[in-house]
Amino acid sequence: MPVRIAPSILSADFARLGEEVRALDAAGADWIHVDVMDGHFVPNITIGPAVVKALRPHTAKPFDVHLMISPVDGFLDAFAEAGADQITVHPEAGPHIHRSIQRIKALGKRAGVVLNPGTPAKMLDYLIDDVDLVLVMSVNPGFGGQSFISSQLRKIEAIRKMIDKSGRAIDLEVDGGVDRRTAPLCIAAGADALVAGTATFVGGPDCYADNIRALRGQ
Ligand code: DX5
Ligand code: ZN
Repeated sequence: MPVRIAPSILSADFARLGEEVRALDAAGADWIHVDVMDGHFVPNITIGPAVVKALRPHTAKPFDVHLMISPVDGFLDAFAEAGADQITVHPEAGPHIHRSIQRIKALGKRAGVVLNPGTPAKMLDYLIDDVDLVLVMSVNPGFGGQSFISSQLRKIEAIRKMIDKSGRAIDLEVDGGVDRRTAPLCIAAGADALVAGTATFVGGPDCYADNIRALRGQ
């Protein structure tokens, strides 16, 4: 299967978000990556469930909702109801990552765990059998446009092995500093989905399709 590309709307024009989502859909995005930040778990504030709900009618593509909020559990229902298709949570966001994963699944959504650059792959030992998705952060969460942290390639390789050993269909997604140079490195390490903010939006709407194709290596 060709690598899935999930443009992050963090790099979109926030005054025209609906239009931007439609443009990403038309440009061939596989998932729409939504970065939710609370100014507490990460040093930036973005959007909440009301915006996810407002965007829902603009595309049928899956919403890949990355929650960088703490505590996170109290907001899982709201994002599911707003139209998220898959929801990813950080173990540090708490209070209880296993409970968060179970709750997302009970809501009928795909559940994922996100590992920060400093969080070891080992964190997955007792979660891998329950998740649908693992998201490896290749920057520290909070902002778009940061440089790719190369040490995360080893972590992607280690998680690829864990996933293959599990025998389950678990997506392995990478987020942060993914561009034409780093995308092939992530794919070679075993990633099968890539988030891209800056690299999708560079050049404006006329370039989205070419940018997405380039990230796929086509
Ligand atoms: C960072 C976010 C990323 C970010 C990626 O906290 O999780 O999704 O938007 O942006 P780029 O692709 O510009 O690094
Ligand atoms: Zn993200």
